[in-house]
Amino acid sequence: MAEIIGNSCIYKNPNAAIEDRVKDLLSRMTLKEKLAQMTQIERRVASPYALKELGIGSVMNAGGSTPFERATSADWADMIDSFQKYAMESRLGIPIIYGLDAVHGNNNVYGATIFPHNVNLGATRDPDLAYRIGAATALEVRASGAHYDFAPCVAVCRDPRWGRCYESFSEDTEIVRKMTTIVSGLQGNPPKGHPSGYPFVAGRKSVIACAKHFVGDGGTEKGINEGNTISSYEDLERIHMAPFLDCLSQGVCTVMASYSSWNGRKLHADHFLLTEVLKDKLGFKGFVVSDWEGIDRLCEPMGADYRFCISSAINAGIDMVMVPFGYQKCLQELAYLVESKEIPLSRIDDAVERILRVKFVAGLFEYPYSDRSLLDIVGCKLHRELAREAVRKSLVLLKNGKNAGNPFLPLDRNAKRILVCGAHADNLGFQCGGWTIAWHGLSGRITIGTTFLDAIKLAVGENTQVVYEEFPSPGTLEEKTFNYAIVAVGEAPYAEFTGDNSVLDIPSNGASVINAVAAKMPTLVILVSGRPLVLEPWLLEKMDALVAAFLPGSEGTGITDVIFGDCEFEGRLPVTWFRHVSQLPMHSERNSYDPLFRLGFGLKTNKAKPVN
Ligand code: GLC
Repeated sequence: MAEIIGNSCIYKNPNAAIEDRVKDLLSRMTLKEKLAQMTQIERRVASPYALKELGIGSVMNAGGSTPFERATSADWADMIDSFQKYAMESRLGIPIIYGLDAVHGNNNVYGATIFPHNVNLGATRDPDLAYRIGAATALEVRASGAHYDFAPCVAVCRDPRWGRCYESFSEDTEIVRKMTTIVSGLQGNPPKGHPSGYPFVAGRKSVIACAKHFVGDGGTEKGINEGNTISSYEDLERIHMAPFLDCLSQGVCTVMASYSSWNGRKLHADHFLLTEVLKDKLGFKGFVVSDWEGIDRLCEPMGADYRFCISSAINAGIDMVMVPFGYQKCLQELAYLVESKEIPLSRIDDAVERILRVKFVAGLFEYPYSDRSLLDIVGCKLHRELAREAVRKSLVLLKNGKNAGNPFLPLDRNAKRILVCGAHADNLGFQCGGWTIAWHGLSGRITIGTTFLDAIKLAVGENTQVVYEEFPSPGTLEEKTFNYAIVAVGEAPYAEFTGDNSVLDIPSNGASVINAVAAKMPTLVILVSGRPLVLEPWLLEKMDALVAAFLPGSEGTGITDVIFGDCEFEGRLPVTWFRHVSQLPMHSERNSYDPLFRLGFGLKTNKAKPVN
């Protein structure tokens, strides 16, 4: 137990000023305890020893690292509370921050609401929607016992060959800036006059957010993940840094450093950008967290050993190290570097102050454990309706009818017979994309939700027959009794480097399914992908209508809301739809701008009432 000063222990006094609590607690910490606070470890190595004896500051889980398969929010809360119990038994009783990637809802937890990915939200250009999704996500994250969400990704994706383009709201900086309202949704609205850069969390129904990845992750050459962004400082600031200022103005608590480089300088070791710009110039008072093994990934490019990389990264401005497994080695090297004065103690104190500040601001000392009253909110009807609203607002109608004046949509829900085909028509995992249950996403009924096929069956008239064949047989295609077909095809899920792709065709046999079906009957194509894909003119010509659904998530009913005309299409492309990959990178600022569909393109049927 901490010794008592006078009749109160300042840092444990919830009524004391945050900065007084920070100073008081820092003054009581040993060097070992300070270094442990800077260390974030994965849940699989979070032992009682690490949490209680060492006083590790933060625990996290990788995408897909769950207590067990189909673990519910209550199971997650049991796990995280058990970690917290050991942390609270440490000498100074400093609670951990538990962090996870909830990048489109709490996508770690079975049964949680899976919202559309950021590219979809960019298509809505609706900051209020982003805010509401942030607030809903915060509730579902806190229901799992977690305190910290490694979101939002505010990358400005300038090249769709990047495997993380779908995590970016848009190629257009102003659209990304507009959607950063999700930070206030996640953390709560800071009071008027709240100083930009100072962390803010409204309370135990809000989370600590993380603006990522600072800076220029979406601007790398050829969209290579963790690659090199070559640009002037002015362009880096104008295109890629601007959204971070909006996050800072909303009191974002943490910023995650990017794996990528700027003009050959690795961000994780760049003192100019991490400290002189982000902390000194922009006044960021929260903490900078490394990316997963971000320090290890300095070694090869820098031709240096781990010790040198730790020294470079911490001195550059990294405050918390997402190790995530070899924390003993990390702590050992940190201690050596401080004792040898290669890392000044003042830098350690600054990092620990930032971490403690966020913990006090987030009320973790007052509310270290999960709030079980939130459990019923996970995947609740209200949140699923919100996700459905986001889906229908995000769909982009790219083609409607083979000739002007003869629109194909809205479809007749009372048609006698409808053929539904394609690998994405009845596949919840494909509909949700990466970062869902597993890091890179999965196929099939991976969680609770409504596929397109489920939604179509719910939406059509009672006398309408719906025939589903993922790959339609020749016999089926020869039947003359179908009024029309709906073909849903696209990309299988991916994440990060597994999504880097310089071909960008419609994968597997999606194009051949479209071709076979559209040759026989009127056909609506729904393209499910994290980004634009090559649409050959001959193939586009065969389609009667084309909807870009991007990655809509668990609520497939958002699709039928618009294709059957209950609601109007509102979505507008947040990214340029190129004609062929040889044009890339191509965005609206380029003078050789010759897209198939330009940034902002999106048709309406003009046959339905506007979406609410
Ligand atoms: C990943 C990603 C980052 C994520 C982190 C933790 O490599 O780059 O966005 O938050 O690791 O999962």
